[in-house]
Amino acid sequence: MQIIHSPKDMHSLSKLLRISDRSIGFVPTMGALHEGHISLIKRSKKENDITVVSIYVNPLQFGPDEDLEKYPRQKEKDIEMLSSLEVDTVFIPADGEMYGKNDTVSIYIGATGKKLCGTSRPGHFDGVATVVAKLFNIVMPDRAYFGQKDLQQTVIIKKMVKELNYGIEIMVSPVKRENDGLAMSSRNIYLTEAERKAAPVLYNTLKHGKKLILSESPGNPANIKNELEAMLNAEPFVNIDYVDILDPESLEGVNKIELPIAICLAAAVGKTRLIDNMIIDKES
Ligand code: PAJ
Repeated sequence: MQIIHSPKDMHSLSKLLRISDRSIGFVPTMGALHEGHISLIKRSKKENDITVVSIYVNPLQFGPDEDLEKYPRQKEKDIEMLSSLEVDTVFIPADGEMYGKNDTVSIYIGATGKKLCGTSRPGHFDGVATVVAKLFNIVMPDRAYFGQKDLQQTVIIKKMVKELNYGIEIMVSPVKRENDGLAMSSRNIYLTEAERKAAPVLYNTLKHGKKLILSESPGNPANIKNELEAMLNAEPFVNIDYVDILDPESLEGVNKIELPIAICLAAAVGKTRLIDNMIIDKES
């Protein structure tokens, strides 16, 4: 397994791979790898000749009061895990290599980046899009792999790829969960024991929403939303950021229940902000 730190070296390798007609699958991550990341990596390995995984905690997507400094970093453990998965290349750029002090150019997503998680995290999705655009330019993949866990992120990346003509296929994989339903996340380690016990209420709320949506008379989205909010509010550790029922492609709100439909939610469990979602379709 090759470990590359410099964007220039990564770009040169990708150019060589492309000349030799080998397909490149790319999995961008911020490290602290878990089964969710691993599912994307395994899929990329199946679908491409070469798999590149990046590890980079992108400062541009963290707000001033967020957890950039304490975001879990476990480089050695991650490298070991990637090596045992037989990943071809790991790209680990240093901050100084990704952004220059006087950089001013960035990607602006617009309204799609300002709703849902964008309301409480202003600028977050512009920061995500900017780093992913840079990583795409460096790695030049044929396909890039993202998790449905961050549904709004996948919508934004697909929008950027389409509008900026990247010609990269965006592949979205299902949410990987712990046995009790909690969506895997690098941030779950922040939870205290009691909060960890309470956290599956997020998934249970999504499951309850699915049951309501698939019932014979689901009623309207506003009523379902109220019921789901009440379920979350009944859990003392949980502080809701948002619960929404949306079109899964556009993330626009809906006035009536028509499949496919997405339930998206974000809530603080103790001090830790967690997100989860479920897409409900005919065969789900
Ligand atoms: P990170 O949070 O490390 O996630 C990397 C990828 O793993 C994302 O596509 C995310 O959706 C996916 N992922 C995380 N938890 C998952 C789960 N439980 N099941 C399935 N997939 C999961 O998302 C980012 O990093 C960053 O924003 C990034 C795209 C790397 C840009 O900095």
